[in-house]
Order: sequence, then structure tokens, then C-alpha cells
Amino acid sequence: MNVELLDLHPAQADLEQLVREGMTATPRQLPAWLLYDSEGSRLFASICQQPEYSLTRTEIALLNEQASSIAAALGSGVMVEFGIGNARKVSPLLKALRSDLFVALDISRSALRDALEGLGQSHPQTTMLGICCDHSQLTDLPLHPLLDGRRRIGFFPGSSLGNFSGDSAVALLQRFRRLLNNGPLLLGLDQPRCPTQLEAAYDDAAGVSAAFARNLLTRLNRELQGDINPDRFHYRARWQSSQSRIEMALVSERPQTITLAGQRWQFDADEAWITEHSVKYSPAAAEELARRAGWRIQQRWHDDKDQVSLHLLLPAD
Ligand code: AVJ
Repeated sequence: MNVELLDLHPAQADLEQLVREGMTATPRQLPAWLLYDSEGSRLFASICQQPEYSLTRTEIALLNEQASSIAAALGSGVMVEFGIGNARKVSPLLKALRSDLFVALDISRSALRDALEGLGQSHPQTTMLGICCDHSQLTDLPLHPLLDGRRRIGFFPGSSLGNFSGDSAVALLQRFRRLLNNGPLLLGLDQPRCPTQLEAAYDDAAGVSAAFARNLLTRLNRELQGDINPDRFHYRARWQSSQSRIEMALVSERPQTITLAGQRWQFDADEAWITEHSVKYSPAAAEELARRAGWRIQQRWHDDKDQVSLHLLLPAD
């Protein structure tokens, strides 16, 4: 088997602490990654198949079409993907780069193992090295003979950066720069476009996006002995042009009190509980973001409608 797992034993999240912080913030908001328990991950995969949500399909098509051009621009080295979410995306690049080694970092050991075993079968020539860790806690990749002295190429697709607010997006890109030892980064971003289309992408007719957000309440009830009635919140996705982002929220239908881990929290009627933001970057905004984090954009690929783009970032100095 060409899969190897390195477990750095990432610390378990303190859910009670996160809830205390999120519930005392104005507006209320918990970290977006809490949406991805096993049911949340299943629902997100289903969102990616909804007709209104084209981001994933478009990015995969772009990667397939441009793989050889992208590989040539990246040069040789070891691909390092931050998060393993959708292992399908890296496939055309591994082929085009003729990679002997692929490294993926993820906080979930089981997701890593499953994804790398699948990928390993379709890429028998590539060693799959999974590092189970919280990359926000790393200052360098662990020492490993396979990584020794090799140029690193980062991969962060799927507009995952969209879940981070301005300053934390900058901090993340700065950390990637260190973890990649000044190697390049291929970054996938979604762009602003018609608000009606964007709002539909985040509030699909089949109700999967709404179920994805509401699942957070179910998770909190289960893990913190909560008493939230999910039906007393309705889901809302709206474009906020001044911040160039979609805001997703659960809105309290009426005044109510919820209990989580023995703590009571009061909601007003119409009070929003933000589940996540999805920031969209215009080419100019992407330039500015890269610059603030010590990178520059060397090249950019995009789909026909110029909605999804892949940027090749190089260290600015
Ligand atoms: C995983 C952050 C890229 O913002 O498009 C999609 C998350 N949430 N629909 C996005 C999401 C609801 C997604 N990202």
C-alpha cells in the first residue's frame, strides 16, 4: 500500500469554550469548521451537487482542462494539500506533475485515511503521506525522510479561504508561506457575481444549504446536552456587497432561551446567529490579499464565465 499516516495528535476542540465565545459575540457566531461533523460533511457533499452551487464542478473542470499548463507553471516538487476535503481535485495535477509523493494535512484521521486510500488506488506511482494535525498550530511540517530537501508546492482549492475573515485569511496565507518553505501556492478562489445567483447557490431550492446550517444545532444538542428546537430558527443567506461576502445565518423566529451545557442563552425575535461567511475575491481583491500576506500573484487561470479562479502565488521577495 502506498499510503502512510503520520499522527501529530491534534488537540480536541473545547466545544463548551467555543460556544461561550461564540454566544457572547455580537452578532453570535461559531467557527465554520464546526459545521463539518459526519452528517455536515455528507450534507456539504450534497450541496456540491446542487444545480445552484456550481463552484465545485467549475473548479474541477478548470483543473482538468488546465492541468498541464498549471503543472508547467508550478515546476517540480511535492504537492502539499491543506485539508483533504475533496481528494478528487488534486488528481489531474498529480498526473500532470508525475508526482512520486503527495502530502495532505487534515485534522480528521479517518477522513485522511479514506481519501488517501482512494487516491492511492488511482495513483499507484505516488506515495500518499497523510499528516493528521491542526495546521493552524504548526510552524513547520514534521521532519520526514520523504520530505527531506524537497521543494514544496501548496494546494488550497475550493475557495476554502472564503470562510476566513480578512485578517485571519492573511494570517493563514502567511502560515502557508512558512509551511511551504517559500515554495509556490496554488489557491482556488470564488469571485463576486450576480447577487441573485450567489444567494441561490447558498440557499438552494432543495433546502440542502439550510439543512447544512441547521445541522449545527443538532450537533450542539447532541454534544452539549442542548435543548435547541431547530424549527424555531429559519435559514437565511444574503449577499453583503460592502464586505464582498455571503452571510449565512439562522434567524430566531421569536424570543427564546436555549440551553447548551447547562448555560442559558437568550435570543431576541429576528436575532441572527451567523453560521458562516463566504468571501468572494475579485482579481484586485486577490492581489491585495496576497500582497498583505507576503505573496504575489504570478499567474491566474479561470473558467469561461470568469467565476472561479486558480492563482499561482509566489513569495513576494
Ligand atoms: C467550503 C467554504 C468553500 O463558502 O462555498 C457552501 C461552504 N457553505 N455552502 C463555500 C458552503 C454552504 C463553502 N466553502
